[in-house]
Amino acid sequence: MTPSENILQLREQISRHNYAYYVDDNPLISDAQYDDLYQQLVKLEQAHPELITSDSPTQRVGDQPLAGFVSVTHAVPMFSLSNAFNQADLESFQKANLKLLPTLNTTYSAEPKMDGLAINLRYQNGLLSQATTRGDGTTGEDVTHNIRTINSIPLKLNGSDWPAVLEVRGEVFMSKKTFQRLNQQQLENADKPFANPRNAAAGTLRQLDPRIAAKRQLSFYVYGWGEVSSEWPLPELYSSVIEQFKQWGLPTNPDADVVAGAQGMQTYYDELRLKRPDLPYEIDGIVYKLNEIVSHKVLGFTAKAPRWAIARKFPAEEVWTELLGIEIQVGRTGALTPVARLKPVAVGGVIVSNATLHNLDEITRKDVRIGDTVIVRRAGDVIPEVVGPVLTHRPDDTQLFTMPQACPECGSEVIKEHDKAVYRCSGGLYCPAQRKRALQHFVSRKAFDIQGLGDKLIV
Ligand code: IVH
Repeated sequence: MTPSENILQLREQISRHNYAYYVDDNPLISDAQYDDLYQQLVKLEQAHPELITSDSPTQRVGDQPLAGFVSVTHAVPMFSLSNAFNQADLESFQKANLKLLPTLNTTYSAEPKMDGLAINLRYQNGLLSQATTRGDGTTGEDVTHNIRTINSIPLKLNGSDWPAVLEVRGEVFMSKKTFQRLNQQQLENADKPFANPRNAAAGTLRQLDPRIAAKRQLSFYVYGWGEVSSEWPLPELYSSVIEQFKQWGLPTNPDADVVAGAQGMQTYYDELRLKRPDLPYEIDGIVYKLNEIVSHKVLGFTAKAPRWAIARKFPAEEVWTELLGIEIQVGRTGALTPVARLKPVAVGGVIVSNATLHNLDEITRKDVRIGDTVIVRRAGDVIPEVVGPVLTHRPDDTQLFTMPQACPECGSEVIKEHDKAVYRCSGGLYCPAQRKRALQHFVSRKAFDIQGLGDKLIV
């Protein structure tokens, strides 16, 4: 075998094992055997640098950070989805489509709505040439350097029957396991933990240095396409397109399914909600897409979203935990905000130990008492909130909360504004909490935007 043949064979083997490991989660060889193949390739390429190509697995991670991000206009705009919040919304969605197209075949692809970021991957002659974020849907940012570090994304497509230009679209996300490990490391390094896997994935793609993304291990599932050169005979069914993408080596979501009509959508929803806590990744709902592509062409798009697809959102996740205490936070203008100190509990993929209680009126209205078992809710990126007490679980020794008469930070008198729910510390800039918050506000992006004087320096 010539070195060139040997190199090609090793690359092919490595990419096959990458797929088995990162997509199928079913390695066919040991880590040591994999490392051995990889090292053989590294050595051969060192001996024959003229044979190094950009699709080699050794070339995933560049060693130079980028100077900045480049904007890219999408060849085909990246749309958003309209939302459904219950089964009735899905039935109206189907009915509206049937009205526009009475012969509509109401079979859908049902897929988890991954909680990550939409990405466009452009393959030219089977090679990954560019990866861009969705941005505003028309223009995104070139993040090829970071996307190349995702081991499950092929740098070169399998086979040879792909169109010369193929753009595929899908979600970049961070698995729950990787997210937990990353946040543990952040804490160990005294860095701020990420609020949720979506923020972690977004923060990773925003890095100029690809070595950071390589360490953080993002994942990807394909769920659509953009520009495709016309020689490719697009299959009739959406599910067949996704199956073809899989054959070309692109990772597809194993939890997707094809379902029939409104009843099929409901059954899939019920099943996925039960599976949700055990899924290896975060989802915030389900996406349904009409499976017959001809109907996509007939139904088309509204200004924002396709008529042939809809996202059914899950209700905000609610859990029970114990209200250990209520503390007061003093804001920039002296407003006192009661904050619930909770027994730490996992909700919506993150550990929550504080939640807002807004103001005293809210606490009174909800009848929340210290020592109560409370319902905590968190929806997406929203700050967790206490919904109310679980009265059947109220112990005898709960304590009613009262607003302090003196500011807990500076001892100044607390004043309730007439007819308003707000209590305020009267200390003004004498109050260290108000001083700190005022300074934070002054230097912030919303005000004077003084860079380098962040929250860490203002103590
Ligand atoms: S399809 C034209 N499928 O949801 C239709 N989107 O709210 C384009 N998303 O920007 C989207 N999982 O980031 C589609 N299986 C899935 C999805 C999915 C997550 C995200 C995507 C998109 C957003 C729209």
